[in-house]
Amino acid sequence: MGKDKLRRFAIVEHYPHFIQPPLGEKCSLLGKWRQDYFKNDNPIVVELGCGKGEYTVGLAQRNPTINYIGVDIKGARMYIGAKEALELDLKNVAFLRTKVDFITDSFEKDEVDEIWLTFSDPQRKKPNKRLTAKPFIERYRKILKTGGFIHLKTDSSILFEYSEEQIKEHKYPHEIISWNIYEDLHLLGSDEERETLQIRTHYETLFTAKGSIIKYAKFRIH
Ligand SMILES: C[S@@+](CC[C@H](N)C(=O)[O-])C[C@H]1O[C@@H](n2cnc3c(N)ncnc32)[C@H](O)[C@@H]1O
Repeated sequence: MGKDKLRRFAIVEHYPHFIQPPLGEKCSLLGKWRQDYFKNDNPIVVELGCGKGEYTVGLAQRNPTINYIGVDIKGARMYIGAKEALELDLKNVAFLRTKVDFITDSFEKDEVDEIWLTFSDPQRKKPNKRLTAKPFIERYRKILKTGGFIHLKTDSSILFEYSEEQIKEHKYPHEIISWNIYEDLHLLGSDEERETLQIRTHYETLFTAKGSIIKYAKFRIH
């Protein structure tokens, strides 16, 4: 790890809203995020593979009565969003450093209301490691309440094509599957949704500058 990454990691580790359970062990907040961490009964939305956490922070600013948790394994990246949340004094934000593979160690059945997958790694050679692959969907099904939405936003045609196939093959109910969301914004149900879709993450900015088209799907898994 480079010097700056080490510096950021050393800082973020001490933030009160940065939670880091030992990998493979149960998180002490499992089943208790509302009661022990947020101290309210509001819905919980998680951003998986949040990187710098633009959706976590952006959504938290817009919706103070919803709790947001950014999840990633790279603490030095999460430092950016965690620092911003601190500066903005957002009480409805936490960052959880873990692998999504172990997500059921951090949330119990039905504890999560909604999931965002933002510019997830396409995993070109390892389809089973894609965050929309069946083993991951099975994990989400354990923590996501019935009817809760999964939002997938990506530049990757490989990941999107694969995810669309998964949605259709497993008959996941879907509201929208768009191969060009900025052309299809009018298909979304509300101004709020249109506005939300325009939050740009770090990777979105990078890929858009290279001419990538941004894709979006909103679906359920039960
Ligand atoms: C391409 S980056 C996108 C980051 C951010 N969402 C954005 O749009 O800028 C993918 C992120 O997912 C994280 N990631 C990938 N697979 C993961 C896994 N299995 N568990 C936790 N984090 C993962 C990586 O560490 C990385 O930060």
